[in-house]
This record gives sequence, C-alpha cells and structure tokens, in this order.
Amino acid sequence: MEWWKKAVVYQIYPRSFMDSDGDGIGDLQGIISKLDYLKELGVDVLWLSPIYDSPNDDNGYDIRDYRKIMQEFGTMDDFDRMLDGIHERGMRLVMDLVVNHTSDEHRWFTERPDYYIWKGQPNNWRSFFSGSAWQFDETRQQYYLHLFSRKQPDLNWENEELRHEVYKMMRWWLDKGVDGFRMDVINMISKDQSFPDGIDGDGTPHFFNGPRVHEFLQEMNKNVLSDYDIVTVGEMPGAGTEDAKLYTGPGRNELNMIFTFEHMNLDQGPGGKWELQPLRLTDLKENLEKWQVELYGNGWNSLYWNNHDQPRIVSRFGNDGEYRKQSAKMLATCLHFLQGTPYIYQGEELGMTNVAFASIDEYRDIETLNMYKEKRAQGMQHENLMEAIHAKGRDNARTPMQWDASENAGFTKGNPWIPVNPNYPEINAGNREETDSVFRYYQKLIALRKEVEVITEGDFKLLFREDEEVFAYTRQTADEQLTVYCNFSATPRELPVPKGCVLIGNYPPQENQGAVQLRPYEALCFFDGNKNGGMDRGKDGENG
Ligand code: NOJ
Repeated sequence: MEWWKKAVVYQIYPRSFMDSDGDGIGDLQGIISKLDYLKELGVDVLWLSPIYDSPNDDNGYDIRDYRKIMQEFGTMDDFDRMLDGIHERGMRLVMDLVVNHTSDEHRWFTERPDYYIWKGQPNNWRSFFSGSAWQFDETRQQYYLHLFSRKQPDLNWENEELRHEVYKMMRWWLDKGVDGFRMDVINMISKDQSFPDGIDGDGTPHFFNGPRVHEFLQEMNKNVLSDYDIVTVGEMPGAGTEDAKLYTGPGRNELNMIFTFEHMNLDQGPGGKWELQPLRLTDLKENLEKWQVELYGNGWNSLYWNNHDQPRIVSRFGNDGEYRKQSAKMLATCLHFLQGTPYIYQGEELGMTNVAFASIDEYRDIETLNMYKEKRAQGMQHENLMEAIHAKGRDNARTPMQWDASENAGFTKGNPWIPVNPNYPEINAGNREETDSVFRYYQKLIALRKEVEVITEGDFKLLFREDEEVFAYTRQTADEQLTVYCNFSATPRELPVPKGCVLIGNYPPQENQGAVQLRPYEALCFFDGNKNGGMDRGKDGENG
C-alpha cells in the first residue's frame, strides 16, 4: 500500500507557528526548535504553507520568487537544516505549490506578459477577495485576471512554456529532497477560453475543474510527479466526488488526493461563507458518507476539519465553552476513523478556539479586510459584519500557536504580527502532559492508525441516519470491525451496545448495562477483531 495512505499530516502556518528571532513573525528556526514536539505528537508528514519570497499581500500565497526563502522566515541554509531535521526524525516535508497565480512582483509579470491572462475588455467575474477579478494596467492598456487579490495575477496555463517553467521549478525542489506538494487551488488553472460572463459575476463554472485541467495534471504527472516517491494533494473548491475520482482514481496518473470543500460549506447560506447558518448534523453525515462511499476503491480523500483558511472546528461544530476538551476529542474521533489521510492544523491538537477581536483593526487577513470595507460601503452594519468575521474569518486560524502560559503564549519575545488569542493561559502546549489533554488524545488516534488495519482499509456504513445529534458509523474489513459513536450535542443519549471492546473514548470508562449511555460530546470507538485471529485489545481500551 502507498505510504501516504497510512500517514497523518500536520499543517504548519509558518508565520504563526514559532518566532525564533523576536521580530513577531514565525520562522524556519522556530519550526526547527519544535520538530521534537511534532515527533512527540507522532505525525508523519509536515505541510508548510508558503515560505517563498513574497510581498505578503496574502501571507505568502503571492509568490515573488519560487526559489528563494521569504526573508522574515530565514535563509536557504535554514531551510536545508530544517529539511534534514525533519528527515532525521523520520518525517517528511510537503511544500505548498502556488501556481494558479504569482505575485505581481514576480519578474515574469513584467518580463513575460504572455504567462498571464490579458483582455481588452473585462468580463463580470468577481474576485474571491471582493471587487472585480480584472485590474486595468496603465502600461499595457489592458486588464489582467486575478481571481484573488490584485497583487495575485493568474497564470496562463494555456502557455506551454509557462507550464514547463513550473515543472522545472517543481523538480528543483524535489531534487532538494522535499517529499511532495500541496497544490493551491489547482483545479482552477484551466479557464474556459471564451471567458463568458457568470451569473451575478460568479465565474466559477468557467474555471472550477476547467476544460484542460486533467490534461495539465497528467502532463505534470508525466513530467515531474511520476519520477519521485512523493505525496500530492490538490486543493479543490467546487470539486465533487465525480471530479475527485478523475483527479485521484487508480490509473489516472494525476494526484494522490484532494481537499474537498463540500463539508466546509454546510454552515453557510446561498450568499456564501459570510452568510451564517447553523450546521445540520444530518447534512454533514450525508456529505461525509457520500465521499466515503463514492471514493472507496475509486480514489483517495484527505480528511480535515481545519486549515489556515477555516475557523477553528471546536468553536464551529463543537462547544468551545464547558465541553471544549470533550468536543475537540469527539470531533477528532469522528474524523480520524474515516477512510483517507488525516490532516491536523497547528493548534487543533490543543483544542485551540476561534478568537473574537473587538476591533476590525486587529484583523490582518486581506479577505476579511476587503470584505468588511466593501460591505460597509454597501451599508451593512458593523456589528453584523463582526459577527460573521468572528465566526468565519481566516484569522481565527492564524493567531499565534499557543506554546505555554508565558507572555505571547511563548510564540515570540517581540510584538506578534497578529494578537495572541487571550485564552492562551488556559489553552497551550505546556499542558499537554495532563492525562486528559487534547494533545494526548490526538497522539493515541495517530498511533492507532498505524496499528489497526481497518482504519485504512475498511468500508463505511452510516448508522442512525436521521439522528440530528449522534454521528455513528461502522468501518469493516473481512476480519475487523469498528463502530464509532459521536455525540455532537450536550444532551446525553442512549444507544445499543455494538460488537467488540472499547478501543478509545474521550471520557473515563463506564460499565455498559445493556446500552451505551453517551455523555455530552462523548465519543466512543469499539473494535471487534477476533474473527481470524485479529487483535484483541482487551476490555479497557484507551480512554481520556
Ligand atoms: C487558497 C489558500 O489556501 C488561501 O490561503 C489563499 O488565499 C488562496 N488559495 C489564494 O492563493
């Protein structure tokens, strides 16, 4: 089996992870100083958000030079040392590959206009970061396309020379020894060349999973990926299960897995991410079931609740007050027993929560700031906008990692580039030794994936489909069965006793007397593996 099917990936947002030199910005030496922590957690792969030279209009997702390290993060020497440190500990490194667009400060933008998309007349597409997706350029007297910020012009993948430049750059990093790529919005690289207007300015039907995307990825695979033992994951807004089969299916020679957005879009209205809507658990169950069943044997998926663009899951689908620890562990249980490769975002393993800054001035993210400005100008109330930002803003994920209870959560000796979440004295990695810490629970989940075959291999069946509080399912192979019970509510629930013994749970064990009594946000996983001499984990599983 491919190694990445049994791997657990940890995402680092370098700017917010650990600052070694007191400038308030995380850096590579900071990461090096925390490699033992990551090893202790037990993850196999580290994915770093972009660390390349960038003017930081979008925190590194606007790249000026693909072969240079961002000055604030360190030097290429630091990078080499970090890579060695990762490999010495038996872990691997995945780099972020941002090739749908560059920075407008990339030298290509002036030297090679044919690498970008220019039009005499713009169409009506809107940018993901507010306003038109087209910017007029005085020198060229034409508009260029930017699906993200004005400083992120889209690359023209129709240009073969450009494509080969990208492949060359990828090989340069792989030859240095990196172990794979997370590919930023990679399903947007092929645009409908007639550039039709979209309904209400929504251009996505004309560039999500566009006409030549599979051809381009197969070309990339042939020219680069197939020569290395690496892992690839494509970030793909608007990709459904049928698309996922094409991107990741056996024999397709494209990518190993994708990030879907479907389960992340269930708590929003038709107006998009800022239109808040409570999650219906049955929607989440139906969606995850679809991905589990459809991809079984036909492709591979990644499993995630968090990343640098999403609010913190414990605040979003859990309970970040009284049941913070229980619900953080419950959500982890629910995700980690699914089929796929799990991704943990920095701080998730501590149960870090959303932040609610009182003033818009404390926010840093271009998406949030542009949206606020645009909607205020349209007359929307400050209070309503702040409510949406508190719930969905990307800065929820980007407050500094909470290492300990010292000033600035131990993240920096200087002034952090974004304020620290004020709850750091209580929620921090210094508490991870406590027997009921969220960290220890993640450690156990990660270890179990290595031990228990059915977690990787088993098929998926949803139980209690109509239940709005309990998410329950089984995973099964010929020899083993798992049953997972997750209470997504604070209401105690009674469920039938499944086969097997408790493998792991997030509460102290209790005697089952004819029924399982699920406590608030309780998660329990039962394992039955005795059929053909499979493992017998005894009665007392791992609890905490
Ligand atoms: C997706 C990235 O995850 C996000 O952070 C970024 O702003 C956009 N792509 C543009 O690169």
